[in-house]
Amino acid sequence: MNLLKLAVLVSGRGSNLQAIIDGIKKGDLSATISVVISNCQNALALNRAREENIPTVFLDPKNFFCREDYDLALAEKIKEYEADLVVLAGFMRVLSPSFLDKFPLKVINIHPALLPSFPGTHGQKQALEYGVKVTGCTVHFVDQGVDTGPIIAQRAVSVHDDDTEKSLAERILREEHKLYPQVIQWIAEGRVKVTGRIVRVSGMNQGTVTDSSCY
Ligand code: GRF
Repeated sequence: MNLLKLAVLVSGRGSNLQAIIDGIKKGDLSATISVVISNCQNALALNRAREENIPTVFLDPKNFFCREDYDLALAEKIKEYEADLVVLAGFMRVLSPSFLDKFPLKVINIHPALLPSFPGTHGQKQALEYGVKVTGCTVHFVDQGVDTGPIIAQRAVSVHDDDTEKSLAERILREEHKLYPQVIQWIAEGRVKVTGRIVRVSGMNQGTVTDSSCY
């Protein structure tokens, strides 16, 4: 099987990037990271990539007149590295429609809530404040809305009475680190099919929700 070439876009800590790197190293993921691109020069994620000798690019938003110009440069970099899939891993910018048009169903994101609940920033805090008993994480294709694209898979996480935003975020993150590499592997295996906004993964007979830490 050909390795799926990934462009991973990051802005911060990079723990999901690390989970993907670890999945590749363990042989669980038939993928290779062609490039890691960041809009933040000091992103810890860039250091994680450099430690693995993965090419990195810092694209400074200050050097671009507008979002369209930035996204054009971003698209050119991704094409230069011949990536098959664009993986958003804590990338804190909304991508413009003209960028997304260049990569139809080729951009995925991970979100720390069970979409369509609690989109946007601070999904964990929103879940706590709302008082839900179950939240989790979602991997979805990116469309022009904020966290509105077709859902590929979700993992559930129970909310505890004594949870803080930090404790809940940590438990969700552990599930993110399992889910993201798993979904990328499904895509690498050509098992993910999209009809409208319905995503099916061949070989899965029970859908793609994993009741991970609910009890
Ligand atoms: C994760 O919680 C992810 O769900 C969200 O941003 C955070 C990124 O964390 N999109 P990290 O940089 O991968 O550690």
